This record gives sequence, C-alpha cells and structure tokens, in this order.
Amino acid sequence: MDVIEFDLFARPGVSHRLQTDGRSRGSGVEAQLNIAVMGTGMVGSAIAGRLVGLGHSVMLGSRAPGADKAKAVANATGASVGSHAEAAAHGEWIVNALPGEQSIPLLKSCDLDGKILIDIGNYDIAVDQPIVAPLGQAIQQAFPSVRLVKTLNSVSAHLMVDPAHLGAEHTVFIASNDADAKAQVTELLKTFGWRRILDLGDLKHCRAMEQLIPLWMSLEAAFGHPNFNLAVVTGDKV
Ligand SMILES: NC(=O)c1ccc[n+]([C@@H]2O[C@H](COP(=O)([O-])OP(=O)(O)OC[C@H]3O[C@@H](n4cnc5c(N)ncnc54)[C@H](OP(=O)(O)O)[C@@H]3O)[C@@H](O)[C@H]2O)c1
Repeated sequence: MDVIEFDLFARPGVSHRLQTDGRSRGSGVEAQLNIAVMGTGMVGSAIAGRLVGLGHSVMLGSRAPGADKAKAVANATGASVGSHAEAAAHGEWIVNALPGEQSIPLLKSCDLDGKILIDIGNYDIAVDQPIVAPLGQAIQQAFPSVRLVKTLNSVSAHLMVDPAHLGAEHTVFIASNDADAKAQVTELLKTFGWRRILDLGDLKHCRAMEQLIPLWMSLEAAFGHPNFNLAVVTGDKV
C-alpha cells in the first residue's frame, strides 16, 4: 500500500479541545473521553492521533507495549500505550483496529462490559473468500454486553480521520443494534469531519459492510493508491 503523509497526528492543545466533564455515558462526544485504541498499525495510529488532537485521552493497546514500534506510535500520536487489558481499563470507549482474525482472541483479555466498541476491523480472508460470520456480529455475540458500533471499515485509514482530504463528498456506513451508541459514534464521526454518515440499521448489515473489502482491493489496484472512497448517490423514491 502506498504511503501518503497526512496531518494525522495533531497534538493536544494544537487542535480544538473539547469540553471536559470526565464522563461519557449520556454526554456523547461533547465530553473529553478516555478511549482505548486496540492495535498500533495504520488504522490504530490514524485514529489515536486524531482522537488525541480532538482532546480525548487515548491509550493504545498493543501485544508489545514496550517495543520500539509501539513507543514510536505512542510518541507520534500523543497517546499512551499499554497491554490490551490496560488500554481497555483506561477506555470508556474501545476502538477495534486489530486484524479481524485476531480481534476476539485479543479482546478476551479485556474488560469491555457495557462499553461502546467501535469495530473498524475486517477479516484478512475477506479479500478473496466468503465471510462465514461477519466480524462485527461475531464480536457482539462473543461480548453480549458490549455496545458494538460497526463503521469506517471500508474507508482508507487516512480518510477515516480526515474525510475532507478527498475534496469531494463521500460515504461512511454505520450499523449497530444499540441506537444510542450509534448516535454517539455518529457524533464522534462528525468531529472527524464526516458529513455523509449512512445508517444501514442493525448489525446484520455487517455482512454487506465487510464484503466491500474485495471491491476496495480492486479499486486500490485500479488506481494504484488508497486515496479514494465510495459515494452513495440517491434520487427520489420511484
Ligand atoms: N489500513 C486501512 O486502510 C484499513 C481500512 C479499513 C479497515 N481496516 C481494518 O482495520 C484493522 C487494522 O488495519 P491496519 O491496516 O491498521 O492493520 P495493521 O497495520 O496490520 O495493524 C494491525 C495492528 O494490530 C496488532 N496486531 C495484533 N495481532 C496481530 C497479528 N497477529 N498480526 C498483525 N498485527 C496484529 C498490531 O499491533 P501491535 O503489534 O502493537 O500488537 C498491528 O499493528 C484491520 O482489521 C483492517 O482490515 C484497515
């Protein structure tokens, strides 16, 4: 995948800082949240950097929090880094930016009870094989008390946190069984700059969302870069 440099890593104080009341539930993203971002890869780095820039307190969850790679991502984003369990303990909200196949095994070490979990993950096998059980639904089933919201999984990492970079209107999909959690995550997406947030409904739509990955791969191959997204255009009902 091509490397494109963007201003993903705005530091606290540089960007606008949100009102702090120390709590998340019922207060949406007007509060400064404690957020865990699981995974220190391309997506975890982008999301963590943006959240820190927006004034949230972020801990990255890593398999190797003491390793140079994790420390470098923490340094670049302004987040702290710990084990997955430590990050989950920090987070009122959790972001899953892990490979799909590793998500449930790694999340099992975490206390996720009652928390909003934003699942951005895809199965690696989704690139060229049918999805048996969509990841978002599988995580919800494995952790029934979690308030899972599936979103951003079909968007290139740099555009997830800076949709305006594309210079055109484009679409992000969202789905959840929990209407209030979905509304709160929608508000967070708006703070990232998203305007076209298409609510598909409940988590059965994870299948459609996760099966966009082969199309995404074909488009990246056609363009030779990941600086694109889908835009859904509608007309009047016929
Ligand atoms: N890249 C995109 O543009 C994009 C777009 C939409 C959705 N996604 C999805 O978002 C998730 C993260 O994508 P990514 O591009 O950030 O992936 P990535 O660069 O490979 O990073 C994934 C991170 O997960 C952790 N991890 C835990 N177990 C792992 C394992 N067995 N193998 C590799 N990494 C492991 C690693 O962090 P530690 O080493 O610190 O543990 C790693 O840095 C995936 O599910 C992907 O399908 C990606």
